[in-house]
Amino acid sequence: MKISFIGSGNVAWHLSQALENAGHAVVEVFSRENRNAVALTKQLYNAKVQKDLNFANSDAAVFFLCVSDDAMEEVTRKLVLPEGSILVHTSGSKSLKDLDELVEVYSEIPQKTGVFYPLQTFSKVFHVNFEEVPICIETESEDVEKVLITLAQDISEVTYSVNSDERKVLHLAAVFACNFTNHLLGISQEILSHNNLEMKLLEPLIKETFNKALKSPKIFNVQTGPARRGDQKIINRHLLSLKETPDYQRIYQILTESIAKKN
Ligand SMILES: NC(=O)c1ccc[n+]([C@@H]2O[C@H](COP(=O)([O-])OP(=O)(O)OC[C@H]3O[C@@H](n4cnc5c(N)ncnc54)[C@H](OP(=O)(O)O)[C@@H]3O)[C@@H](O)[C@H]2O)c1
Repeated sequence: MKISFIGSGNVAWHLSQALENAGHAVVEVFSRENRNAVALTKQLYNAKVQKDLNFANSDAAVFFLCVSDDAMEEVTRKLVLPEGSILVHTSGSKSLKDLDELVEVYSEIPQKTGVFYPLQTFSKVFHVNFEEVPICIETESEDVEKVLITLAQDISEVTYSVNSDERKVLHLAAVFACNFTNHLLGISQEILSHNNLEMKLLEPLIKETFNKALKSPKIFNVQTGPARRGDQKIINRHLLSLKETPDYQRIYQILTESIAKKN
């Protein structure tokens, strides 16, 4: 199938290559910054850089809108797609209705739409095994559903039909599981490096924490640490150590209170 990408960020980077590895052809890449589109086309077989958002003469069947959520309106305002093509976004937090409304306002021809949300964290420099990435699909058209399921199953072993409300819930849970844990690990790293200690020391602990959580039917039950034990002297000492970084002190306090309430 011929596919084009609008956006060349983290998701477009990985998804376009996964689709090509599964035998699909990425024909065009558009990006606000031309050099970013050029960099992505260099990773692909035969894709060309699309200089503007007028795809009227494109022979792609599916267009992946992989831009920041806040840029979706600005991009769809200028977007011209060939008749009969499918426009999908990859966002966890934008609904299908959001995309439909934009298309209705800005597109001169009716547009088939859908959502193709890969539930994973993507950074250009880190390899992702797409076979394990759950692909959450949503559309109101049976034809589009067939196409999106084919694409999803070609790159992943895990495909779900997920509506916009469910996807928002998944995205909220993912923010806690991924974005906040990553931030907390960043804080750990900073605390260690300020004291000339290596993050490597925490590696077995981090691995076991995730290992245990993934195996536990009730993750709160395997909580350990001073907040779980109610060890107030240690908690006070930690809070004092964080006096130079009031943001981290606040995070420590809020998490400690939340853990204590689960005891
Ligand atoms: N990263 C993840 O882990 C992840 C996972 C699942 C779903 N998603 C979703 O996938 C979508 C893309 O995310 P991403 O992580 O790939 O984002 P990203 O790496 O930040 O890339 C954003 C893309 O949007 C373009 N862009 C930003 N503002 C723009 C504007 N005003 N006009 C035109 N283009 C603009 C950027 O163009 P230039 O680079 O050329 O400036 C870039 O190609 C989002 O909806 C996100 O929620 C992300």
